[in-house]
Amino acid sequence: MTDRPMTRETGAPVYDDQHSRTAGPRGPVTLEDVHLIEKLAHFNRERIPERVVHAKGAGAYGYFEVTHDVTRYTQAAFLSEIGKRTEVFVRFSTVGGEQGSADTERDPRGFAVKFYTEEGNYDLVGNNTPVFFIRDPLKFPDFIHTQKRHPQTHLKDPNMMWDFWSLTPESMHQVLILFSNRGTPYGYRHMHGFGSHTFSWTNGDGQVVWVKYHFLTDQGIRNFRRHEAVDMAGRDPDFATRDLFDAIERKEYPSWTLYVQIMPFEDAERYTFDPFDVTKVWLHGDYPLIPVGKLVLNRNPQNYFAEVEQAAFSPAHVVPGIGFSPDKMLQGRLFAYGDAHRYRLGANYNLLPVNRPHASTAQNYQRDGAMRFDDNGGSSPNYYPNRLGHPAPTERARGPEYPVQGLVGHYEYRDRDFYTQPRKLYHVMPEHERADLADNLAASLRQVDREIVERQMVHFEQIDADLARRVSEGLRKA
Ligand code: HEM
Repeated sequence: MTDRPMTRETGAPVYDDQHSRTAGPRGPVTLEDVHLIEKLAHFNRERIPERVVHAKGAGAYGYFEVTHDVTRYTQAAFLSEIGKRTEVFVRFSTVGGEQGSADTERDPRGFAVKFYTEEGNYDLVGNNTPVFFIRDPLKFPDFIHTQKRHPQTHLKDPNMMWDFWSLTPESMHQVLILFSNRGTPYGYRHMHGFGSHTFSWTNGDGQVVWVKYHFLTDQGIRNFRRHEAVDMAGRDPDFATRDLFDAIERKEYPSWTLYVQIMPFEDAERYTFDPFDVTKVWLHGDYPLIPVGKLVLNRNPQNYFAEVEQAAFSPAHVVPGIGFSPDKMLQGRLFAYGDAHRYRLGANYNLLPVNRPHASTAQNYQRDGAMRFDDNGGSSPNYYPNRLGHPAPTERARGPEYPVQGLVGHYEYRDRDFYTQPRKLYHVMPEHERADLADNLAASLRQVDREIVERQMVHFEQIDADLARRVSEGLRKA
């Protein structure tokens, strides 16, 4: 006898878990083996839809500690005092691959942070790159299709990728980053993280500034070169997942220092380019990095599915003192993530242990829905306003106000300068990085139809003649 009997999902003890209930020793199996039926049926439902992007990932808990005073800029409670610590959960990921794909594939890496603050959960859902390929959310599904599998061959298809990129010149900046060795980071600990978009911060007096986030790795940047990444994909496709888990088990806790760039509210109108354009970085000379605090990961999850797979991050999860900006991509994302979570996890996904607030309580009038597994508000009113007057909205949660102008319509970005920032990036690369970049580009373009290559070469020419020459030479050698 055991003091921990195996039970059915209803809690009733199970008699036999090794031998199905059969008619006689040779079978057949009877329908009344309800434990067997429950077990097989639950097994059939173990898979939920994987994330449509960022399906392969790894996560860990830790804390964020404020090291510098930023109360001039934001009233966010978790940033209110030097020394203040807030629990976090972070999920890193690749973007285009499926759940079982190799960690060392050339791809941006997701860098999603959930801060469990006392005023609710704040999610910063960023990447390891400060910019993105596109700047209008209408283009996102098409772009992602090019990163996924070909509809006929079911293969990754460089023709699709380069066809799209060569016809989408705003992608050039991110394409250069992707094909540099930063596109194959040495695990998740040795890369930076960026919020990428411009966000807003509001201080206690209601003053608004624009902000960009930079998490700089304290482990130092380290990347695989192309052949090393390919080799590692064969030897250990889970390299980054293992590296993160093992480092934390060894108590080598990875950390990042958070810096922000702050742009005064009025500057947005007169900056040299649209500061809400996510294909561009703000020059550090114009808006220097200001230190804020430290992010440390020191605890592995106990159960991958419960905590990592079911984690749901959204740029819409903000707290008082932190808000959005007019960035069109960010605005599109405000819809996309909650919608994805409701499809992937269900209407009550915010009740799951990894997603619910840890340092505060959710109080509202949303009720019912599939898998409502808390007390569903108990006997309290399910409408507002009510005679008890609670819970009620609060002035502190007022978002930033900013002027808008113009006619509602479909607008192209006026800024058609696709090349200045990629050129600057190319110029700051040391010689060996330029050589690797050109080599990585040529290796990919080798698999692409001539017409597309020619179109893409025109972009490289405009970025820098030396880059174009090196890529052409690489292609000729092939
Ligand atoms: C995941 C949509 C742009 C970073 C996702 C998911 C969707 C999505 C639907 C899956 C969510 C889930 O199932 O939990 C979009 C759309 C975009 C966009 C529509 C543009 C309009 C971006 C950008 C970044 C980014 C610009 C980074 C700056 C991430 C990350 C994840 C993710 C890190 C994984 C979060 C996790 O670990 O669970 N995106 N995305 N996305 N996205 Fe985006």
